[in-house]
Amino acid sequence: MKFEYSAGAFIYRKSTSGISLLLLKKEGRDAYDLPKGHIEKGETAEQAAIREIKEETGLTVQLFNHFHISTHYVFTSGKEKISKSVKFFISKTNSSKVKISEEHIGYEWAPIKKAGPMLKHKDLLKILPKVAEYIEKTDKMQELNNEYAKLPEGSKEWDLSKNFVPGEGPLDTGTMFIGQAPGANEDLQKRPFVGRSGMLLDRLLNETKVYRKNIYITSVVQFFPPKNREPSKEEIEKCKPFILRQILILKPDYIVLLGRVAAKTILGEDSISKSRGRIFRKDGIKYIITLHPSAVLRFPKNEYVLKNDLALLADELKKDKKAEVIKDN
Ligand code: URA
Repeated sequence: MKFEYSAGAFIYRKSTSGISLLLLKKEGRDAYDLPKGHIEKGETAEQAAIREIKEETGLTVQLFNHFHISTHYVFTSGKEKISKSVKFFISKTNSSKVKISEEHIGYEWAPIKKAGPMLKHKDLLKILPKVAEYIEKTDKMQELNNEYAKLPEGSKEWDLSKNFVPGEGPLDTGTMFIGQAPGANEDLQKRPFVGRSGMLLDRLLNETKVYRKNIYITSVVQFFPPKNREPSKEEIEKCKPFILRQILILKPDYIVLLGRVAAKTILGEDSISKSRGRIFRKDGIKYIITLHPSAVLRFPKNEYVLKNDLALLADELKKDKKAEVIKDN
């Protein structure tokens, strides 16, 4: 058996009539396909997908960072059996102008709900609902973040930084981490948990085999409080509706609350020492409360507390067979 590897993408755009997917048509085939092609020697799947999209549609795209899904099928070409794996990514474009290659005879921007019957290929049909859900979540989160990022403009008194630090991670994860507020490094890079606290958390996550790339991570307040002060009650109240809406979009099975501000804001729990080390259940979500990594940086002897609570999460994920969060590939 021969093995072949291809890469491609679900390319979508948003208009007043909703979300549509770019489908391509080849001569002699009644079904539509997605832009895709062979991964050449020395290319990553991402590079191959970007190149194929350019060649087949004329579009220059960026792929979503946290999403890929693969299909596998076996077919016969002449006398040879071929096992094919195709890795698909997602990409958003604002351009409706497509320049198809000579391989194709047409294209269609198909409303996402109508794309299934046009694709026909059963492997694509199987993954389409997951892709559609991911696109929908991405769009909702983007809209919410755009609104949240404008909060400083609409507030008379604003003592936080004006740099919005969006949450980060795959939107189809079952596991969310919520901290307090970004620090100076996060403010500069506009990414959560990239400073010393983030590095400590990453190390402990690796040690407990719950990998950062598989979780969604954010904070109650997504603007840096200057001098690393704790956000005020008023600031937390302003930001709270946004973190609650982010939870509703993400629909996680597990939420880890890092530190007192997160535990108090989300669950009304005041004392980390009394509430840590066990599972809280609320509205179908399992919560684990633990120390904020910055507290461990201040008192390194407490590292074992945070590590034990992350190990509790790893155990629960194993029990619940949420293996995707503890997978390192
Ligand atoms: N601490 C937090 O609570 N959030 C960040 O993003 C970084 C540090």
